[in-house]
Amino acid sequence: MMKWGREAQKRLQAIAEVSEPGPGVTRFPFTPEHSRARDMIAGWMTDAGMKVQLDTATTLIGRREGPKGAPTFLIGSHQDSVRSGGAYDGIMGIALGCLAVEKLAANHVDLPFAVEVLAFADEEGVRFPTALLGPRALAGTWDPAVLEMTDRADIRLADALDAAGGSSAALARLARAPGDVLGYLEAHIEQGPVLEVQDQAIGVVTGICGIERNTVTISGQTGHAGTVPMEMRADALVTAARLIADVEALARETEGVLATVGCIDCAPNVVNAIPSRCSLTIEIRSADDDARQSFSMRVIEVANKLAKDRSTPVALAKTYEQNASACDPRLVGKLHGAAKNLAPDAPLFPSGATHDASAMADLCPIAMLFVRCKGGISHSPDEYASAEDMGVAVEVMAGFLADL
Ligand code: GLV
Ligand code: MN
Ligand code: MN
Repeated sequence: MMKWGREAQKRLQAIAEVSEPGPGVTRFPFTPEHSRARDMIAGWMTDAGMKVQLDTATTLIGRREGPKGAPTFLIGSHQDSVRSGGAYDGIMGIALGCLAVEKLAANHVDLPFAVEVLAFADEEGVRFPTALLGPRALAGTWDPAVLEMTDRADIRLADALDAAGGSSAALARLARAPGDVLGYLEAHIEQGPVLEVQDQAIGVVTGICGIERNTVTISGQTGHAGTVPMEMRADALVTAARLIADVEALARETEGVLATVGCIDCAPNVVNAIPSRCSLTIEIRSADDDARQSFSMRVIEVANKLAKDRSTPVALAKTYEQNASACDPRLVGKLHGAAKNLAPDAPLFPSGATHDASAMADLCPIAMLFVRCKGGISHSPDEYASAEDMGVAVEVMAGFLADL
């Protein structure tokens, strides 16, 4: 067991070097780092005896054939990271998936179905204001409008994808027939403290929260910081500050909803000019889609009132939305069953982070395995999962596949 865990740790340390310079791991989709990571992941897939191909969404796919005409079971996760993220979020699920297949091959286990390991390009949605293009393309739920979205350098998503070896014109052909897909399994670092508090190596996920992301643009009027009287100002940044505080206060008093302003830009952003323009993101999450949507409506009301009261027009655009997804009870039971020897007390609990599995749920039954996260810390260079815990996860994943 430790052999697989140690191998996972070695591979994750190596691929963590494939990053933009700076603290932790910064690996965005459709970049040179993404291509280099794909080359490394292709090696993992080949070591597991899989045939490797790249689909037009730049999802790298390793395939282990099954009996002729048999359906396929999918395992996946994402290669990308947040800025200055850790070495486990996303990429660990790809590494563990490859190792589970490698273990089955080493043990000469035949399966009555094919298995594919999918290394998705973009789950975090940090570079473009959207995410999950790869799994949505497989599920046939992707929205062509996202191809026109741009990153901070004004590069269109379609152009970035095409330059990275994908084909924006051919995405529609990626949709899989539900009858060809048995299910989807994703292993992921927990990103929270539950397993550590309970002293458990792994946990089984019951469902994944829903999420939406909004871009808010506030328009004001710039002017000289020393000459425009306070009562004559339309300061976009002050409206933003009020909005941020209101969103937090609203979320604090709303059960089951989390809201975050994680990103803000201000123009002209100089010390002695009144801010003329401010843009920020408002991300809202809940396990209850209705609660999230009604919270979102309240945010719009608050933003519109601030716009009017402060003479700073506010435009709000929803750029990304993914409903909550339930894990499949049969697969959850199988995963829990596969864990019974190594982790008999593995807890069942929901995920407050979103995952590629969220979108895969529109194609097939999904299941997720969480691995203990040191200190509950994630989206940070300090993120850590132990070789021992990852070894348990590989064993459980292989056992799950063998017993499906
Ligand atoms: C995705 O990883 C998210 O939950 O932010
Ligand atoms: Mn992730
Ligand atoms: Mn993440």
